[in-house]
Amino acid sequence: MKARIVYASMTGNDADMAEILEEGLQELDFEVESSEAEFTDASDYLSSDLCIFVTYTYGEGTMTDEVADFYAQLKELDLSGKYFAVMGSGDRVYADHFCENVFDFEKIFKQVGAKELTPPLTIENAPDDEAIAAIDQAAKEMADQLND
Ligand SMILES: Cc1cc2nc3c(=O)[nH]c(=O)nc-3n(C[C@H](O)[C@H](O)[C@H](O)COP(=O)(O)O)c2cc1C
Repeated sequence: MKARIVYASMTGNDADMAEILEEGLQELDFEVESSEAEFTDASDYLSSDLCIFVTYTYGEGTMTDEVADFYAQLKELDLSGKYFAVMGSGDRVYADHFCENVFDFEKIFKQVGAKELTPPLTIENAPDDEAIAAIDQAAKEMADQLND
């Protein structure tokens, strides 16, 4: 099973999440490719079975240019027959905007026909031990769902 992880990260928290997830999926025998949104075209998802997006949220939910560009590319795709999962890091100080971009991407993946494999996973700031365990658990759930 091929998984493609695309991530957006300014200060490293989402890059760390992506790396933890990549290692978790590899241990579960997924073939994983990982890259930054800024240097990736959303059409790269077309060669994967499982499409994953990991993102920060800045500016009270307003997308930064790199995230907005990737979102615009994704919007034009047809991902029917593919699975997706979204996750990301935010800060609860931003209340109603907590991890808003994660949920924006959940909506757009659904809109382009992909099937959600696991619920969005949100963490606060840098991944601590609890967050690492939650990411590993999400990887396991992805594998379990696909094996059902
Ligand atoms: C100026 C600024 C605006 C932010 N706005 C939000 C926000 O709207 N919602 C949210 O959940 N987190 C917000 N955050 C918190 C970041 O998303 C959080 O620190 C995240 O871990 C950063 O991820 P990164 O290290 O991958 O860039 C903001 C942080 C800064 C500095």
